[in-house]
Amino acid sequence: MTSKDRAILKIGDQSWDFPIYHASIGPRVVDIASLYKQTGIFTFDSGFTSTASCESRITFIDGDKGTLLYRGYAIDELAEKWDFLETCYLLLHGELPDKSQAKVFRENISKHNTLPEQLHNFYTGFDRDAHPMSMMCGVVWALSANYHNSMDISDASDRMLACMRLIAKIPTLAAMTYRHHIGEEFVSPRGDLDYASNFLYMCFSGESKEYSVNPIIARAMDKIFTLHADHEQNASTSTVRLAGSSGANPFACIAWGIACLWGAAHGGANEAALSMLEEIGTVDRIPEYIKRAKDKNDPFRLMGFGHRVYKNYDPRAKIMQQTTHEVLEELGIKDDPTLAVAMELERIALTDEYFIERKLYPNIDFYSGITLRALGFPSSMFTVLFALARTVGWSAQWKEMIEDPKQKIGRPRQLYTGETVREYVKEEER
Ligand code: SDX
Repeated sequence: MTSKDRAILKIGDQSWDFPIYHASIGPRVVDIASLYKQTGIFTFDSGFTSTASCESRITFIDGDKGTLLYRGYAIDELAEKWDFLETCYLLLHGELPDKSQAKVFRENISKHNTLPEQLHNFYTGFDRDAHPMSMMCGVVWALSANYHNSMDISDASDRMLACMRLIAKIPTLAAMTYRHHIGEEFVSPRGDLDYASNFLYMCFSGESKEYSVNPIIARAMDKIFTLHADHEQNASTSTVRLAGSSGANPFACIAWGIACLWGAAHGGANEAALSMLEEIGTVDRIPEYIKRAKDKNDPFRLMGFGHRVYKNYDPRAKIMQQTTHEVLEELGIKDDPTLAVAMELERIALTDEYFIERKLYPNIDFYSGITLRALGFPSSMFTVLFALARTVGWSAQWKEMIEDPKQKIGRPRQLYTGETVREYVKEEER
């Protein structure tokens, strides 16, 4: 990054200047890395609302326009025209694969989609009713035990192998988590099914009957994975980057990302949004919940609404809504009451001054729960599916961070407002 533009900081009669770097698209940045050294002052940006933590070439979001690009390709084009594994290749390599690259990539994913027997036994440590996200944190972390000594993150081929193993194994782990949760035997992946179909097969095939994957449902699942694949420096991706900046094992870093995604303010919102819509129950009860969402004394928020970056409609939510209609139609589910509540809630909120003024729109989590429930998943599995899809984004961002020549361990500072130095007082004198 080079720049002739400079930003001037003036405090009292002193001033300092800092380089400004231009983005290929999106906001410029002021490089303040030398601020403390020059001025003895920190910046303060709790929640990182105005802070770029890194330089990246993977995903771009324009929050005002509501656009999302993976390596320059618009999300709606990718979701409609390509499949998830081609999107994985794009996020990892920076270009869409040609025919032979796509073939080799799919074969590689297929080669790595099984798990060592010890991992199967790992599940016996979980109660069946443990939250599936708690199991996912545990089993993905356990992968770091299997792939620790055999991996050197300073080696490019080892880094790519770690990413391929993660993308290949995460659907199998997610399906095993689901099967353990419902008390069913594990089902191994098949070599003749595509990524999304294999995942549905591993989840829903029964002992007695041969499960045949509905191609329209599999396509919808694949599209949902693409929509969730990456999203710039969100909380869980920033967690993976910060963890990885110390040189930690990439499987352990992804487990940290899963833990962060679980929160209701982040990926856990899809589960919370469906329970909110089910709690509202009928359209006539919407005004009561809108009132609560606006009441500062009520902690209730509309789950699946609002976004730190999107101050316009989340482009993924639009595609998600279309996919919801496609899935419900294919499954012959007419007049889903929860969908009716969701659409009326959206209509009312988008005409309400409170939401308009704060630029609060539906985000990806608002409709996803209705679709995933229709696909047969319990709401406790919704964030697991988000984590399954986001594993490629976390992996690509981890890889980019490790390969950044300017990379160093992340170590933020603080505004300290605690006690100043004070003398120890003996117990009898307190
Ligand atoms: C994801 O970052 C990513 O990219 C994440 C993600 C990804 O793909 O990785 O997109 C996935 O996490 C989507 C977001 C899922 N979370 C939810 O749907 C939970 C509900 N949403 C809110 O909790 C909230 O909107 C956040 C957390 C998403 C964003 O919060 P911000 O940016 O910190 O905004 P804020 O809390 O400063 O709110 C600004 C104002 C406040 O009102 P005022 O104090 O100005 O009067 O908007 C209000 C908030 O009270 N507000 C809401 C609201 N969200 C914000 N009021 C009611 N309902 C809401 N959902």
